[in-house]
Amino acid sequence: MLNIALPKGRLGEKVYSMFDRAGFPCPALMENSRKLIFDNEKAGVRYFWVKPSDVAIYVERGAADIGVAGKDILLEYRPEVYELLDLNVGKCRMAVAAPESFRDRPDRTLRVATKFSRIARDFYSSRGRDIDIIHLNGSIEIAPILGLSDVIVDIVETGTTLRENHLEVIETIVPISARLIANKSGFKFKTEQIEQLTEEIRKEVEEA
Ligand code: PRP
Repeated sequence: MLNIALPKGRLGEKVYSMFDRAGFPCPALMENSRKLIFDNEKAGVRYFWVKPSDVAIYVERGAADIGVAGKDILLEYRPEVYELLDLNVGKCRMAVAAPESFRDRPDRTLRVATKFSRIARDFYSSRGRDIDIIHLNGSIEIAPILGLSDVIVDIVETGTTLRENHLEVIETIVPISARLIANKSGFKFKTEQIEQLTEEIRKEVEEA
C-alpha cells in the first residue's frame, strides 16, 4: 500500500481528482463523512486527509510515503523530503503588501507581519535589510491597518483580501503551487510504485 497524505479542503479535492484520473481512485474519499483515512486495496493506495500545513510533517516522518504540499510550506519549514513534481494547481504567490499610503524609510527597521517568518527573513536578509518579524497565525492583513506592522508577507491568490482591506502588493517574493513530495526512505523501498504514480500524475498535469 502506498500511503498518501492529501491536504483537506478545495485544493485536496482537486488534487485527489488528478490521482483518480491517473488510475489511483478511492471513491469513498469523496463521501461526505468525517472519516479521515480511506483505502483502495485494489489500486494499492491509502489516502489520509490532513491539515494542509501538516502534510509535510506526515511525509517527512514517514507516516505517509507521499503527499501534496504547497511550495510555501516547503520553503517555510524545509522538511527533509523529496520534491517530485510541480502539480501546477493551488497557484498563488508569496508577496510583500502594504497599505496604499505606505512609503518605505530604508533607514528604519521594517516591521513585517507574517505567518511565514523564515521566508520573510530570507527575503529581507538577501537584501541586507533589517526587519522586525511579527509572527501571526492568520488574518495578517489587519496588522498594518492597526499599525502593528509596516508591511505583510503573505499569500496572494486573487488579490481580493488585499483589495478589500486597502492594501496592495509591493513586490512578489516567489510564485507558489502544490508539489508532490515523498518520504526519503519510503522512496527507496517503494521506488517503482512511487515513480509509476509520479509518471501517471505527470501526464495528468501535462494534459490539464
Ligand atoms: C490566505 C492568505 C490571504 C488570502 C489570499 O488566507 O493568507 O489572507 O488567502 O487570498 P486572495 O488573494 O484570493 O484574497 P487563508 O484563507 O489561508 O486564511 P488565513 O487568514 O488563516 O491566512
